[in-house]
Amino acid sequence: MKKIGILTSGGDAPGMNAAVRSVVRTAVSLGIEVVGIRKGYNGLIEGDFIPLDSRSVSDIINRGGTFLFTARSPKFKTEEGMARAIANCKEEGIEGIVVMGGDGSFRGALDLSNRGIPCVGIPCTIDNDIASTEYTIGFDTALNTAVEMIDRIRDTAQSHDRCSVVEVMGRNAGYIALYTGIAVGATAILIPEVRPDITSVISKIKKTQKNGKKHFIVILAEGVGGIKDIAEKIERETGIVTKTTILGHVQRGGAPTLRDRLIATKMGYKAVHLLNQGVGNRVVCMRGGDIVDEDITTALEMRKPFDFDLIKIAEEVSI
Ligand code: ADP
Ligand code: F6P
Repeated sequence: MKKIGILTSGGDAPGMNAAVRSVVRTAVSLGIEVVGIRKGYNGLIEGDFIPLDSRSVSDIINRGGTFLFTARSPKFKTEEGMARAIANCKEEGIEGIVVMGGDGSFRGALDLSNRGIPCVGIPCTIDNDIASTEYTIGFDTALNTAVEMIDRIRDTAQSHDRCSVVEVMGRNAGYIALYTGIAVGATAILIPEVRPDITSVISKIKKTQKNGKKHFIVILAEGVGGIKDIAEKIERETGIVTKTTILGHVQRGGAPTLRDRLIATKMGYKAVHLLNQGVGNRVVCMRGGDIVDEDITTALEMRKPFDFDLIKIAEEVSI
């Protein structure tokens, strides 16, 4: 390989920059040129390319977001968009691409690989909802941010003997809610993987009230929805003043944690070595703590097993 491209796609995740840095510097060490493709697949269609060298990625390991910008590109899914993307790769001499994003972005990487541009995916999303990997870049930073914010909410809930219902991100997945809920000592955690049962949340609050508990935190995954109704029902049926907070995009920003920087660096290194060996159509994954790779089609067909034991633990320690 003489020249590779790199793009970030879908929702940004803290640690993407650290992964870009690792890709660029690993490639430079191997004598491979690197082209940054801006704004995800849109940049590939529009030929929005910038040359990257070791110095172009200085001072980004500690920055959230993605300095290459990101986008969702409906046009890339069309025949015309795909044809333009491939023509631009050929014209620029891009022989392989590292794609950072989630399953949607990997579908695009599969299409490109099938049309002669080998791609390697790196899993990046705060949701940790990619089945082929135990870990996705950004998850740890998002969790730590959410925990810090909810600890602050706890201070005021405790001072006023209130209940706080806090919505965390996760449109389709409850990992952020479950992990955060355990770490902040939530009384109840509502996630899309388990049918939400507000009645049992209310009876738990009442039961623990009898135990002497005076303030409560309920964590709600975005995918469950209905925060206002839930809070009103809790207040009506328990008599406890109940406030709501939607954490939102604060969870997506900020300096990546050590874990995200380290895993991003390892995954970036792995991706470039795969491409350099002429291996494409793969996603980099973490399995048993090791960094390995998987065929994209196989990866996309996998289903992530949910850790129901963790739900049980959360239930039992929040009495
Ligand atoms: P994520 O990568 O975080 O899952 P999206 O699902 O929004 O985010 O996908 C990011 C981009 O990947 C889309 O905007 C589109 O350009 C591309 N993409 C998604 N699905 C496909 C598909 N089936 N075929 C080709 N490209 C796709
Ligand atoms: O996939 C990451 C994520 O932050 C989800 O948790 C959330 O539902 C979604 O992206 C929000 O996307 P957007 O920033 O486009 O609103």
